[in-house]
Amino acid sequence: MSSNHVAFFDTTLRDGEQSPGCSMTTQEKLTMAHALEDLGVDIIEAGFAMASEGDFAAIATITQAVRKPRIASLARAKTEDIEMAARALQFADRARIHVFLASSDLHLEYKLKLGRAEALDLCGDSVRLARSLADDVEFSPEDATRSDRDFLVEMVRIAVEAGATTINMPDTVGYSTPEEYGRMFREVRERIPAIDAQGIILSSHCHDDLGLAVANSLAAIDAGARQVECTINGIGERAGNASLEEIAAALYVRGDRYGVSTSIKLAQLYPTSEVLGQLITFKPSPNKAVVGANAFAHESGIHQHGMLANPLCYEIMTPQLVGVAKTHLVLGKHSGRAALRHRLEQLGFALTREELQHVYYRFVALADRKKNIYDQDLVGLLPDGIRERRQEPVSELD
Ligand code: KIV
Ligand code: ZN
Repeated sequence: MSSNHVAFFDTTLRDGEQSPGCSMTTQEKLTMAHALEDLGVDIIEAGFAMASEGDFAAIATITQAVRKPRIASLARAKTEDIEMAARALQFADRARIHVFLASSDLHLEYKLKLGRAEALDLCGDSVRLARSLADDVEFSPEDATRSDRDFLVEMVRIAVEAGATTINMPDTVGYSTPEEYGRMFREVRERIPAIDAQGIILSSHCHDDLGLAVANSLAAIDAGARQVECTINGIGERAGNASLEEIAAALYVRGDRYGVSTSIKLAQLYPTSEVLGQLITFKPSPNKAVVGANAFAHESGIHQHGMLANPLCYEIMTPQLVGVAKTHLVLGKHSGRAALRHRLEQLGFALTREELQHVYYRFVALADRKKNIYDQDLVGLLPDGIRERRQEPVSELD
């Protein structure tokens, strides 16, 4: 892979599944893994083998059915976790063991009750064990962004010396800002020359507690990260993980700014989001970028008029780019005559200027009372004489 290739590490089936309403059976995880393969992700984190029998089974099943992406299992820095991950991955063509260990004093003291020196030893021992079981080992210093910087660098150095092939620096609690997150990557690269010299991949992993997960991921890419960890629809712990579709779309639409390549098939973004929405208990919110129901919907008269004149006025990408069938000009109380005429023409009704004016007044009065206006409502607004004049419609009634 060229050095400007950014690998997509999808953790929908691990970090994503760790959010309420998102747990999946093995069969559901397999369906999702196939969708992720079709989407073109480079790595699928299929689960946390030690967490449950279900997770172990899902990882093992996916390794046998999904061959293109690399398959990863998460493991704590514990012998039994790492050995379990290796067992779950034994049939994978290309496997990765992903070892994590907290690097912040807060986590070490309160969660793990470990001193810094013990943590460094554990890091080295765990990565060495993982490397004895797999060629590809990722190490994550958990809570990297709230860790003492010198200690973080020390831990990463030890992981690199022990054989880690990818170093992921998570913003575990979504605390960082883009500027700080990028600076952390630059500093770690500068202070550990072996990272670039040995071709070790740096990876971002961002949570969305302050709504900055995607911005932070892009800042990491700017600073040299060549792997991004993310989930479909941004599902994940608390406010979620960085959303895969937003990062992929941003890297494409702003290719002028980032200049990196990816293997993501953009037209699969919406279909993949749909697959996930059907497997878990909720869909993305309507205003979610790229895949939300309103991402390509326009309601106000000014925007609709601009869209009809030239879609570039209000859309920075076509819906088809990301696999959405078409733009929706939604008729509501902010819509204007142009959009009303357009929709009525699609439904087979050509109106004179005066007729349109008359129907428009009735439409605005209805839209003031009703949140959603359907095609049937529009037809109901037409005076009898017009209804009988219906020609061959371009579009069926919804
Ligand atoms: O958010 C996090 O720190 C994680 C690690 C286990 C990578 O999910
Ligand atoms: Zn996470």
